[in-house]
Amino acid sequence: MLSGVSTKTQYYLELEEQFGAHNYHPLPVVLTRGKGVHVWDVDGQRYFDFLSGYSAVNQGHCHPRIIETFIEQAQKLTLTSRAFHNDTLGEYEEFVTKMFSYDKVLPMNTGVEAVETAIKLARRWGYEVKGVEKNKAKILVCNENFHGRTTTVISFSTDADSRRDFGPFTQGFEHIPYNDLAALKAAVQDPNVVAFLVEPIQGEAGVIVPEEGYLAQAYSACKEANVLFVADEIQSGLSRSGKMLACDYENVHPDILILGKALSGGTMPVSAVLANDEIMLTIKPGEHGSTYGGNPLACKVAITSLRVLEEENMTENSAILGAYFRKELLDLHHPLIKVVRGKGLFNAIVIDHPNKDMAWEVCMKMKDNGLIAKPTHHDRIRFAPPLVITRDEVDECVWIIRKSIDELM
Ligand SMILES: Cc1ncc(COP(=O)(O)O)c(C=O)c1O
Repeated sequence: MLSGVSTKTQYYLELEEQFGAHNYHPLPVVLTRGKGVHVWDVDGQRYFDFLSGYSAVNQGHCHPRIIETFIEQAQKLTLTSRAFHNDTLGEYEEFVTKMFSYDKVLPMNTGVEAVETAIKLARRWGYEVKGVEKNKAKILVCNENFHGRTTTVISFSTDADSRRDFGPFTQGFEHIPYNDLAALKAAVQDPNVVAFLVEPIQGEAGVIVPEEGYLAQAYSACKEANVLFVADEIQSGLSRSGKMLACDYENVHPDILILGKALSGGTMPVSAVLANDEIMLTIKPGEHGSTYGGNPLACKVAITSLRVLEEENMTENSAILGAYFRKELLDLHHPLIKVVRGKGLFNAIVIDHPNKDMAWEVCMKMKDNGLIAKPTHHDRIRFAPPLVITRDEVDECVWIIRKSIDELM
């Protein structure tokens, strides 16, 4: 039995331990309800949610407009498959392509499926449009990337834990360091390179923000070499970074844009790949798809989720309160906080302590004090609250963070 855990909590922890695969290591908190920036556990304890479902809940938990749309459509029609048309898919496709300025969208469900789709599109474009010799296409990826968990996508992960004993792996990926223009410029000279797949801000790596100018110059380098610039904005996009897309900071319009997570405000898996006709129309009927991709429920929920971001000024709130949050954290001048970094409400701190479990212990302390967050890569803690957070709540959270770290000194 874990110390400090109620019998009720213990019951749920044991159920998962006994009957669920052990592929996660969650904080020992059992949540039962959420609203806005808050979640409640089975003992009635309230927490600030500083993970937001890995940025799927940007609009806040159970956003009333998103839930209303969800319920309304769920009572009408949820799934047709793409064997038939439905009266929501076209409306969503028009909405999302106009919003992000692309000719076409290909709807999928989870983020990694959208990444897989982008890989297929880039390869197909490489053979049919760029003229690369069959089966020779290469896609450039960055060290420390995170794009999901399928066999192909972990084939180009640089995280040993993600790959151990899952081989053999998919070929055709080449690594370059993140935020290294010289490396990119050299790599795109290879005529077999069809695409550069990049997170505009690396999320899982610990919210690594590239230097100013990197994305714009990387885009130009790709254009010069006739290489597609593919942005995975699954975590960095949809207002999280203080712009609708992190690429917007540098006015970069990716050739292929990948969205997921907050596209449904945390209600269901909805992802999307956006591109212009030259790329998208290389895939023909029967060559790619998904039973649930573009289902009527997802389409309606996605439209409302995007509208909520725009109409409730979540991008602006993220930019303003993100800058304020970083300033408040820096002003703590805390010896345990080595680095504070991020953009908008997409932030992380790096913990400076010889105990390599210190970030976990800080998260446990913050949980006890009413804020939940999760370490990434042992010494980094990501802070990504729902974008509906207020200035007073940010103040309260900075106080909790400081108190928690102080209690461990
Ligand atoms: C940048 C990025 N790409 C892809 C994914 C995979 O998304 P999913 O877990 O929905 O498959 C994630 C998930 O964290 C992500 O952060």
